[in-house]
Amino acid sequence: MGILGNFVVLEGIDGSGTSTQIELLKGRFGSRNSEGGMPVLYATAEPGAGELGRLIRRALRGELSLLPETLARLFAADRGEHLYGPGGLVERAGRGELVVCDRYVPSSLVYQGLECGEELPRTLNSPFPAPELIVFFDLDPRIAAERIRDRKEREIYEYLDFQIRVRDRYLSLLPGFRAQGSTVVQIDASRNQAEVAGQLWAVLENMPILKG
Ligand code: TYD
Repeated sequence: MGILGNFVVLEGIDGSGTSTQIELLKGRFGSRNSEGGMPVLYATAEPGAGELGRLIRRALRGELSLLPETLARLFAADRGEHLYGPGGLVERAGRGELVVCDRYVPSSLVYQGLECGEELPRTLNSPFPAPELIVFFDLDPRIAAERIRDRKEREIYEYLDFQIRVRDRYLSLLPGFRAQGSTVVQIDASRNQAEVAGQLWAVLENMPILKG
């Protein structure tokens, strides 16, 4: 599958701050859009907000016990809906919206890759387009663990030893994402929110959709 232009994916271990940065980005675009000249921002996340996403979140909370392979298939099914369903990412990016998604195929290759081996997530995700840009939020898993320590609910992957493996796997897969044609940028997610927002913005600004 080819590259989907205008499509940006934020990736990182749990607690690396991708969701926070998407919220900050919405604020930034909200004000800029009203000034005109900026593309519409479509900020979204996987797992999605629909029924499949809800089912996945139940499994992540441990309320539902599923085989890792089943979870890999559910993530891929949810992704297919997210991409191609009504108002989906392919349609939006195609009409010139800037689509920014919190997690995408790389999360499946990393997390499900660790859980059920490389082959199944690769096969399930091979039909999906690659993003124009992948931003990897790099953070020491020990710092991330501190950040998420006070969360009420702990999901099945939110343990330090697993997160250490998640980071290592991201780092080993990044060159492959580059080879498939995505621009891959690593940012230092240990900095404060404003600094990380600055790093992210500096990367986004270079995209053709924002350069005009
Ligand atoms: P996350 O973005 O961390 O959501 P929240 O902060 O709201 O809990 O994503 C939830 C978890 O889902 C995270 O541990 C990574 C995992 N995940 C996968 O294992 N595979 C995937 O394909 C995706 C999209 C997420």
